[in-house]
Amino acid sequence: MKGKGFLSISDMADEDITSFMAGAVKLKAQGLPALCDGKILAILFEKPSLRTRVSFEVAMRQLGGGAIYISPAEVGLGERESVPDVARVLSRYVDIITARTFSHATVEVLADYATVPVINALSDREHPCQALADFLTIYENKGKLAGLTLAFIGDGNNIAYSLLLAAALVGMNFHIASPVGYSLHDEMLRVAQGYAARSGSEILLTEEPGRAVSGADIVYTDVWASMGQEAESEVRARAFTGYQVDRKLLSQAKADAIFLHDLPAHRGEEVTDDVIDGPQSVVFDQAENRMHAQKALLAKLLGG
Ligand code: CP
Ligand code: NVA
Repeated sequence: MKGKGFLSISDMADEDITSFMAGAVKLKAQGLPALCDGKILAILFEKPSLRTRVSFEVAMRQLGGGAIYISPAEVGLGERESVPDVARVLSRYVDIITARTFSHATVEVLADYATVPVINALSDREHPCQALADFLTIYENKGKLAGLTLAFIGDGNNIAYSLLLAAALVGMNFHIASPVGYSLHDEMLRVAQGYAARSGSEILLTEEPGRAVSGADIVYTDVWASMGQEAESEVRARAFTGYQVDRKLLSQAKADAIFLHDLPAHRGEEVTDDVIDGPQSVVFDQAENRMHAQKALLAKLLGG
């Protein structure tokens, strides 16, 4: 992966993800190593962000570099200027780019035309940086990744897909419970099933949340309507009735199961307050780990 960018968890298919997490834990303990001294990151976003933007900016500063945020209105990706030209121009100024786009194709075009590494900071298809932070959080809490079971309750979206790929690569079992029509697509599953055949991970798709969480070490949920799907919110809220993670559902997982959510959460929809604020929730450690996992990623891509 070194120097090539990070658009998908599949870009880590040849890496040992568990070793990456062990490295991230060490880096987290070190604080401020100057691994990206003088390097500049461009943060090019088509959608809003709290965690991703701030964690990338702080990560770069703590590694001795800097970051420049370019807002959706400023860049006008594909409107004011073509995506290839934006990639070519930014590559002349900065050492690395992270982009949050509506369409996954946009981040792929950026990577094709940039001469510096491009990191996917969330597209409609994947959120690989989130999955790195999630697996770091799981590794810290459970001491391992392989052999665990992650239950995802909700939409087969960008978050679910990156988690599925990461789980299949490391040998973690992945269960997803979604209403009909909202699960992961066949093509996504085919890729993950290829990894799972090698790692021994078991993939289960069900419509029953109780079945998904049974025996789970990790229970995970995300919003029912993602950014860009606001017009579908009501239809989705109806379709996802019964897919809320509440205390009763969480109690059907292992007694020591942890609860994860990428945030922002729609409290009272996909998760109840007593779960997200409860003793099994590690969501704010998980949010903090965005920064630590991205430091390890930036150091790797920039050769530190
Ligand atoms: N989890 C996450 O990516 O949060 P933001 O949208 O706030 O960056
Ligand atoms: N699935 C959500 C994740 C937000 C971090 C979205 O794409 O809006």
